[in-house]
Amino acid sequence: MALILGIESSCDETAAAVIDSNGTTLTERIVAQRIASQDDAHRPYGGVVPEIAARAHVEVLGPMVGAVLADAGLTLDDMDAIAATAGPGLIGGVMVGLVTGKALAMAAGKPLIAVNHLEGHALSPRLADASLHYPYLLLLVSGGHCQILEVAGVGQYRRLATTIDDALGEAFDKTAKILGLGYPGGPAVERLAREGDAKAVRLPRPLVGSGEPHFSFAGLKSAVMRAKDAGIHLDADIAASFQQAALDCVVDRTRIALGAASEGMTALVVAGGVAANAALRGALEALAAQHGLPLVAPPPKLCTDNAAMIGWAGAERFALGYTDGLDVAARPRWPLDANAAPVRGAGVKG
Ligand code: KG4
Ligand code: ZN
Repeated sequence: MALILGIESSCDETAAAVIDSNGTTLTERIVAQRIASQDDAHRPYGGVVPEIAARAHVEVLGPMVGAVLADAGLTLDDMDAIAATAGPGLIGGVMVGLVTGKALAMAAGKPLIAVNHLEGHALSPRLADASLHYPYLLLLVSGGHCQILEVAGVGQYRRLATTIDDALGEAFDKTAKILGLGYPGGPAVERLAREGDAKAVRLPRPLVGSGEPHFSFAGLKSAVMRAKDAGIHLDADIAASFQQAALDCVVDRTRIALGAASEGMTALVVAGGVAANAALRGALEALAAQHGLPLVAPPPKLCTDNAAMIGWAGAERFALGYTDGLDVAARPRWPLDANAAPVRGAGVKG
């Protein structure tokens, strides 16, 4: 059994959690968790401002760690290890969380586990569903990343696809900005799309039909901008048509990846912030069923950034004896599959 304190601060959520890896249900495994969103601080700017984010993490994180331990009825001494996000992300924020984790580990004489934020997302479905076994095919869709990976085990990733320009969450956020829906955009676009006609606005499906499962959303974003500027469409119709076009791309790309994946995948898994989108989950469920696989998606609250997933990834690492020295560095970029070949296109992420 291991009790792990998890810390997350790589973007605009400050979060801390206590994870009990001995539990079998989600309720048993997440002993306590707290999360503070910085949405209000960033809203006037229409996106995350790194310096504001880092300062907010500094103010909130220390007291939050104390509070989450109190919620759990435990102390730092009870923890077996401290797991903190060490990247990738906004480097100022990452450093706040990692340095806090190092200080706590040093003060309490506990091991430190430097967690890759993307591994947190990648393993989060196993936190929520104890029956999910390796290897699985993972669609990782967040604000900064859009990838399809084979997950063979902790630290064992093979990237089959990435985006050649924007991430899926970025496309939702930019569409929200174009439609004046504010920040963060994904949930707002999803809500408005429910009131619109997905066939009302003709939008492109970039890369659909291509033999490699990569993604591209920049052209779709420009088309959304033109549709809005035309001044003849309802915003709800633009939102619905955008969401449908984006999901058509994701489903087509994932179908190609399923065909290219190694034998023996136990499930199609979706994780990351955009995995909270109900329409996406529905579309992927149908695709997975066509391939005779279950779709596994964490509950929506575990899809967006949180510390429970960092604590859980820490617990999986700790179980294998993987810990890190106090000299471990914060990393703004940290791909899960370091051997993945670069893909064509400007501004390739991850
Ligand atoms: O994983 P996450 O919380 O942070 C990153 O690591 O990037 O993902 C945030 C992204 C944002 O782009 C947000 O707009 C998107 O996930 N998102 C959604 C939904 N909820 C969050 N996109 C579409 N539909 C949603 N319901
Ligand atoms: Zn994330």
